[in-house]
Amino acid sequence: MNRKTLLGYGAVVVVVSGLSALVTGLLMNIYERKSEAKNPYVHLVEVSEDDTDPAKWGVNWPKQYESYQLTALATRTRFGGHGGSEALPEQKIERDPWLKRIFLGYAFSIDYRDRRGHAYMLSDQEETKRLSKPQTGSCLHCHASVMPLYRELGGGDAMAGFKASYQLSYQEMNARLHASGHAHPVSCVDCHSAETMKLRVTRPGFVKAIQALAASEAPLPHLPSIERWRATNRQAPYDPNALASRTEMRSFVCGQCHVEYYCSSAMPLEFPWSKGLRAEDLEAHWNGVVLPKGGRFFDFKHSESGAEILKVQHPEFELWSQGIHARSGVACADCHMPYQRDGATKVSDHWVRSPLLNVNRACQTCHHSEEQEILARVEVIQTRNFNLLQRAGQALVDQLDAIQAARAAGAGDEQLQPTRELQRQAQWRLDFVAAENSMGFHAPQEAARLLGEAVDLARQGQVAALKAKEAGR
Ligand code: HEC
Ligand code: HEC
Ligand code: HEC
Ligand code: HEC
Ligand code: HEC
Repeated sequence: MNRKTLLGYGAVVVVVSGLSALVTGLLMNIYERKSEAKNPYVHLVEVSEDDTDPAKWGVNWPKQYESYQLTALATRTRFGGHGGSEALPEQKIERDPWLKRIFLGYAFSIDYRDRRGHAYMLSDQEETKRLSKPQTGSCLHCHASVMPLYRELGGGDAMAGFKASYQLSYQEMNARLHASGHAHPVSCVDCHSAETMKLRVTRPGFVKAIQALAASEAPLPHLPSIERWRATNRQAPYDPNALASRTEMRSFVCGQCHVEYYCSSAMPLEFPWSKGLRAEDLEAHWNGVVLPKGGRFFDFKHSESGAEILKVQHPEFELWSQGIHARSGVACADCHMPYQRDGATKVSDHWVRSPLLNVNRACQTCHHSEEQEILARVEVIQTRNFNLLQRAGQALVDQLDAIQAARAAGAGDEQLQPTRELQRQAQWRLDFVAAENSMGFHAPQEAARLLGEAVDLARQGQVAALKAKEAGR
């Protein structure tokens, strides 16, 4: 063999062995991916219903745990990540000057904390100065991994424990939470079965409310398992964990907390869903509730007008229910917990946050437009909604001015009653959109409808106040 052939031979050997190594590597890789996909996690530790510490679950499911921990990072978009509905940030008062006026008489201007990621839900609640006025143990329903404590309070029966918890003060319930070792924010066990890892709902407030909703007449085309249950003999109440589809569960787990509610030491925590999920259905529910001390339900009396006002809290589940995405089977988790690839397995991003920080995976899986174009569409929706919100706020302020003038002219309770009723209705609709956290995105047309009605009702109320003023003279 001359040198040339020898070199050539050597090159072939190198190429062949390189190729076979490549093929073997590829086969091994495919094999590994397949078995990964079949058995995505090895159980290194056993977890149970009483394991509220996410770190323990993280041993088995490190990817999900890692992304879950990222909820401790600060995020912000034009409207997202701040401006929580339960208090009045200086910044928000500057942005929406009517806010302070319409909530006169409601004690929440005491303290504001930026709404943040899930990692902070318990500590932010513990630190809020709003707790300087007495609050109920019910507050913990949505701010901690509270199920073992409910079972403890109810002698094994979580629903019984839940029903008892409103009578405990926040401080007492919180102390017990810490003593029992379950002082964690929303944790794996709140959304996943410890045995099967399947999604499930745990919160008694949600379970009671979805059962009442199922038993109502309200059309629910976006919740087909409820429509199916309605067609049965209804012997047992609707059971979301047994009957809901996976798609429905991907929203139900969030609906345990991101909803309108009332909680106080006067009655158990309640979600107002017995007549449906639209703003007027919720309003009709509250109008039907009689306070334990007697009289029609309200959250506070407006200190200028004396009207009995309802305060709205974060109705994300309810507003989403009225939108095209819900109608098309797009769940909260599709946008807020989109899949990431990890080898052959898909991992749901447990860094729950604004989807605008993650358009590529949150939206572009379904919408094949450029990222900038998608962001621009959201911007248009949110800006229109914001502008309409300002006009509705102004209309309500004008009504309040007219009521002030009527009172100054000597109008009494009887003459003011019609305008006070209109204030209650207008403010409910305005606040429904203001307290919801997507700035109209979750259901743009529904939000616009509500704001249009709010403007109309406030202007009618202004006219009614003018009449009261005439009568008062
Ligand atoms: C089609 C996608 C989509 C679906 C489905 C969806 N959302 Fe959203 N959500 C958004 C967008 C977009 C925003 C606006 C984010 C922003 O302004 O930064 C938002 C905002 C929010 C915010 C405020 C976020 C922040 O950073 O302040 C919360 C909370 C929220 N959604 C909860 C929910 C819940 C609960 C559901 C289901 C009941 C849901 N969303 C369904 C897209 C979606
Ligand atoms: C146990 C109650 C609970 C559950 C369940 C829950 N959340 Fe939240 N969520 C909260 C609370 C409380 C906050 C505010 C925390 C704070 O400001 O300290 C929050 C904050 C958020 C934010 C704002 C994050 C930020 O960085 O500003 C988004 C978005 C959100 N949740 C979406 C969801 C989605 C989507 C689901 C379902 C997959 C869900 N949440 C399930 C209680 C809950
Ligand atoms: C039905 C579930 C639920 C209950 C009950 C509940 N919260 Fe929240 N809370 C939430 C959600 C969801 C958020 C995040 C969305 C937002 O801020 O609008 C939040 C946000 C907060 C925040 C952070 C933002 C802010 O407004 O400062 C504080 C503090 C808070 N809640 C305190 C309380 C207190 C005190 C109670 C009892 C009176 C309570 N919560 C009861 C669901 C609930
Ligand atoms: C607020 C509810 C919620 C919490 C809290 C939560 N998850 Fe999830 N998780 C989901 C949703 C929604 C999915 C998607 C499930 C589906 O589509 O079937 C999911 C999926 C998963 C999966 C299946 C694979 C995947 O990524 O889709 C694993 C494993 C998992 N989560 C582990 C965890 C662990 C570990 C924790 C705690 C560190 C946790 N989860 C906390 C809602 C939650
Ligand atoms: C799982 C699929 C899916 C995901 C994820 C999704 N969408 Fe959609 N989106 C739809 C469907 C379906 C429609 C209804 C219109 C249609 O049938 O073409 C729609 C409609 C819309 C519309 C028109 C709304 C209206 O009221 O007419 C906008 C804007 C939109 N999506 C933006 C977004 C944004 C922004 C995200 C990410 C935060 C997102 N979508 C995520 C499926 C999705």
